[in-house]
Amino acid sequence: MSVASTEHVTRELRAATKLPLWVKLTPNTGDLPDVARAAEAAGADAVVVANTILAMAIDLTTFKPCLGNVMGGLSGPAIKPIVLRQVYQCARTVKIPVIGCGGISTTEDAVEYMLAGATAVQVGTATFVQPAAMTTIIDGLTKFCERRDISRVADLIGAVLNEETDEPELAWLAPTP
Ligand SMILES: Cc1cc2nc3c(=O)[nH]c(=O)nc-3n(C[C@H](O)[C@H](O)[C@H](O)COP(=O)(O)O)c2cc1C
Repeated sequence: MSVASTEHVTRELRAATKLPLWVKLTPNTGDLPDVARAAEAAGADAVVVANTILAMAIDLTTFKPCLGNVMGGLSGPAIKPIVLRQVYQCARTVKIPVIGCGGISTTEDAVEYMLAGATAVQVGTATFVQPAAMTTIIDGLTKFCERRDISRVADLIGAVLNEETDEPELAWLAPTP
């Protein structure tokens, strides 16, 4: 997924519909904030960050890749820190909502995503393990906010305290203006 192809596809879709247009981005790119910016510029109403991370496993008995397609998409808790970082970067780059998706299985995961800047979150793999994961997380968000005296769940959005990113040695964390 490149900046140019994202802009092209989003623009075509925008011209084709007045329905809400959420563009789901792959995390398998080095310039995700730029890709998110391209989707926004072409008319997306929101970006979903992100899809699965391209991964691989090898069977040590046969020395063959475990997956018939050699590579496949990794999801679940292992990808959470990576996608969380991408949500943080994208949320600081675009003005449209960023929907966080990647390895969320608990209320605390959802809170982290919202603090990083996600307006809402999606839960995928966790629902295979626990079909009621989403309702548990929704109830947990309310309880988390009550315990912390936070009046609205939405107050969590982007509330991460990030003074450290102003430190020169951490400047690379900040999105390009
Ligand atoms: C079995 C499976 C099927 C998926 N199919 C799709 C799909 O058809 N389209 C899509 O955009 N993402 C698909 N995904 C990606 C998920 O929607 C989600 O972006 C990703 O798994 C990360 O979230 P999670 O860790 O909560 O599962 C699929 C994921 C899994 C595990």
